[in-house]
Amino acid sequence: MNSPTPSTVRPTLSAQTPRAQDPGGPSPDPAPAPDPRGPGSRVAVVVVAAGSGTRLGRNMPKALVPVAGEPMLARALRGVRRALPAAEIVAVLPRESEELWRLGRELGGVPAGAGETGRNESGLVLVAGGGTRTASVRAGLDAIGADADVVLVHDAARCLAPPEVFLAVVGALEAGATAVVPALPVVDTVKTAVPAEDRGIAPEQVYDTPARSALRAVQTPQGFVRAALVAAHRQAEAWGGDRSEAVTDDAMLMELTGLPVHLVPGSLESLKITTDLDLRIAEASLRPGPAGTEPADQKPADQKPADQSPVDQTEETMDRDQTSLPRIGVGTDVHRFAPEGSDRELWLAGLHWPGERGLEGHSDADAVAHAACDALFSAAGIGDLGTHFGTLRPELAGASGAALLTEAARLVRAAGFEIGNVAVQFVGNRPRFGARREEADRVLSAAAGAPVTVTATTSDGLGYEGAGEGVTAYASALVFRA
Ligand code: CTP
Ligand code: MG
Repeated sequence: MNSPTPSTVRPTLSAQTPRAQDPGGPSPDPAPAPDPRGPGSRVAVVVVAAGSGTRLGRNMPKALVPVAGEPMLARALRGVRRALPAAEIVAVLPRESEELWRLGRELGGVPAGAGETGRNESGLVLVAGGGTRTASVRAGLDAIGADADVVLVHDAARCLAPPEVFLAVVGALEAGATAVVPALPVVDTVKTAVPAEDRGIAPEQVYDTPARSALRAVQTPQGFVRAALVAAHRQAEAWGGDRSEAVTDDAMLMELTGLPVHLVPGSLESLKITTDLDLRIAEASLRPGPAGTEPADQKPADQKPADQSPVDQTEETMDRDQTSLPRIGVGTDVHRFAPEGSDRELWLAGLHWPGERGLEGHSDADAVAHAACDALFSAAGIGDLGTHFGTLRPELAGASGAALLTEAARLVRAAGFEIGNVAVQFVGNRPRFGARREEADRVLSAAAGAPVTVTATTSDGLGYEGAGEGVTAYASALVFRA
């Protein structure tokens, strides 16, 4: 079957909202001519990811929270690049989150210097956000390069938005719209009420019931002629607290400045991850469904633009891998023995070894358990120990190796995998594993909820293991799609 070209995928504005019917207000800017460099080439996308994620309650900025093992920011940026490979992207991050800035850089992002704007080689610029979503969008707009004439504003919290929504928004802008918003019909009956805090009494009382047929739930990415959006934000900058607080999306700013806003079809996949239940729904949507259905991020080829970049092709290969073959992973951990006379106890393979010299480390230094964790993360492709057990999880400080293995196994399963087995080889002079190997296997297997086996060897007197300075554990793990 031939794949449709991008132009057949995109609904045109004229089919839905003829410009002749624009209700008053300043007339839209002339339609930009289609760009020969392909979809997205003069588009800048501001991805706002500077929120704190209070309602999700994970004690970390929301954009860092993994969705099926991949941080929300990474998923959101991957979605944008997949839909609009040539677009310039500005990611707006919480000023104080070192982890998110590190992730942004790992994804190819370059922090925008003071007063510096524009495209770099990777096409991804990182800027610090503000105290409100509107302020964060404004920070993103300030960092866009000179050549973009349309801007899409997208919430990182809608990290599963599919490519066809991006293309529909860009298509409508190319057809002449000034502001375009993806929307879905509302399924609930909606009431307006006077908020309880305004009246000082509860329960709240219904004020009105708008006709459901006229209601739309709007999503992101929202697209705008750049100059119009920038002007609307400039105007709003002068507003005081309450009025600014009431602005919950960019289209609303355009409406308030009297400009027409048009709708294109949104998608159920673009759900906004706000609460824990949203996160679970998003993760469930990524698992393979019954035969004939596709996980949300594995679109059939004929729903993608015909001209695929190498990045798209790589992602497709990765998607294919995820559906069929098992995956292996490797992990290594090295710890140095504590100095003579130290009171460090030895913990290894989930076991306490009384009378043995302890290993140094911030944690219990259980190299065997830590290598097993890394092998599991590696197999599932969801980062490593640092990603999951770093400073962002203070509740894990001081956790035993076995407890970390339990958590690693949980994360791997949450990412949609089942664990085949984990094999760990210990290299060191001491302790001697022979007598306790079965016990170690039992404890670690119970921790992982899957078979874990430990083998041990010395290094024939060579290297740091042979000199008795430290130990190494090498692990491999096998996982498969649940
Ligand atoms: N956002 C932002 N800057 C802010 C507030 C929000 O960039 N000061 C972004 C969020 O990162 C998110 C989007 O705006 O991608 C929508 O906001 P929301 O879903 O409310 O996210 P949070 O503000 O992080 O969540 P919460 O309100 O629960 O704290
Ligand atoms: Mg918020």
